[in-house]
Amino acid sequence: MVGAGYVGLTTASCMAQIGHTVIGIDVDSAKIEALNKGIIPIVEDGLEAITQQMLATHRLTFQLGYSEAICSCEFIFLCVPTPQDEDGSADLTYIRESAKSLSPYLASNSVIVNKSTVPVGSTLVVEEIVRRDDIFVVSNPEFLREGSAVHDFLNPDRIVVGSSNKQAAQRVADLYQSIDAPIIICDPASAETIKYAANAFLATKLSFANAIAALCEHVGANIDDVMQGIGQDKRIGNQFLKPGPGWGGSCFPKDTRALVKIAESAGYDFELLRGVIDFNEIQFDRIVNKVRKAVGGTLTSKNIAVLGLTFKAHTNDLRDSPALRIVEHLKSHGATINAYDPTANESLHGINIYKTAIEACASADAILIATEWPEFASLNPTDLGKIVRSKHMIDARNILDADLWKAAGFTYQGVGR
Ligand code: UDX
Ligand code: UDX
Repeated sequence: MVGAGYVGLTTASCMAQIGHTVIGIDVDSAKIEALNKGIIPIVEDGLEAITQQMLATHRLTFQLGYSEAICSCEFIFLCVPTPQDEDGSADLTYIRESAKSLSPYLASNSVIVNKSTVPVGSTLVVEEIVRRDDIFVVSNPEFLREGSAVHDFLNPDRIVVGSSNKQAAQRVADLYQSIDAPIIICDPASAETIKYAANAFLATKLSFANAIAALCEHVGANIDDVMQGIGQDKRIGNQFLKPGPGWGGSCFPKDTRALVKIAESAGYDFELLRGVIDFNEIQFDRIVNKVRKAVGGTLTSKNIAVLGLTFKAHTNDLRDSPALRIVEHLKSHGATINAYDPTANESLHGINIYKTAIEACASADAILIATEWPEFASLNPTDLGKIVRSKHMIDARNILDADLWKAAGFTYQGVGR
């Protein structure tokens, strides 16, 4: 397993859990040292326990860099980052570098598996770097949500395997034998497209939910009822319909932009997806405007308490977090940001970080809930009312009981409520 990040570490530990012998490889020596002691650097439900159990069985080990150990591996999964290039396309530098570095160690008949989200055609890119007839390259995209990645690995909706070599594809599919899920075997371009299409569809669904929330505000409808009403239609489904501050994280923003680029390079203008991405930027502005409206029209010199900084709850991941995008907007309009997040304790440029929600809310001119951490739902409006400067609540995740907050004297703005 090359790359012990959110995806690689989860895949390594879970592959060991279902019976395989796994070597987790990373270029970060501090990370490898910690992992070998069973200390994991991320917040991921159940992952530390599985990692420790698997280390104890010796089916899982971690090592720094590439070495002879790879000679004994039948499968080499690439789980290295594919960051966004300046023009929005996916940067394949780490994929190329790792394929090049490990190729001298590859045993005949081994299979390189692209787990990272890579542009359509990347299976061929890896094949061209390795240039060996006795090595196969297979696409096997991940669909792991941060926070429930272990659950998602062990209970997937489907497993996708793409290869031009049927036997190699079947060998990868067989790795998942003990998991009960449909397996889709297809060509590599289709497998790579499935990954992007899934994330693009989910992002579209979320932007649609946010647009309907905006409509609800205009026509006096309630988004909670509207989403329940449409979610009961099995063709629509009730998941991924929660309106919020806009979608973010390490995948949706970069993958949607990359798909627009992939389409553009292939001669197709993916207008629909461009609209979905642009709309998400508007959603950040809509939340900023709610805060501005709450504090009387100008944010200059206003104290804004921001509760939640991670891109969603149950993770410590700040990458492309909507909360941070909104904070940047608020700061650029002259607001002071006093923030609290249960997992993000490091110092962040221009943000005062506090150890509790209560401390962050002291002297606030408005409170913004940007991430849906469960502890925020049980905040006591009467207690907070005593320490804030003005009683304004902007609940960008719709997790509060609006009536309760209004009864305590707060103005309340949700999203589509
Ligand atoms: C990454 C990609 O961003 C994503 O597109 C893909 O679907 C899965 O892999 P993630 O696991 O969240 O996602 O990345 P990250 O947490 O940054 O972990 C990557 C790891 O790879 C890091 O531990 C890094 O040290 C390591 N790495 C990076 C290598 O081992 N070798 C390299 O050349 C580069
Ligand atoms: C995503 C994919 O879901 C997963 O399959 C994999 O491809 C990696 O990328 P992840 O980035 O962990 O997973 O986050 P996800 O749970 O999908 O949420 C993405 C964003 O959408 C977050 O900002 C989240 O807060 C937001 N969201 C999600 C909503 O605003 N409302 C919802 O109903 C669901």
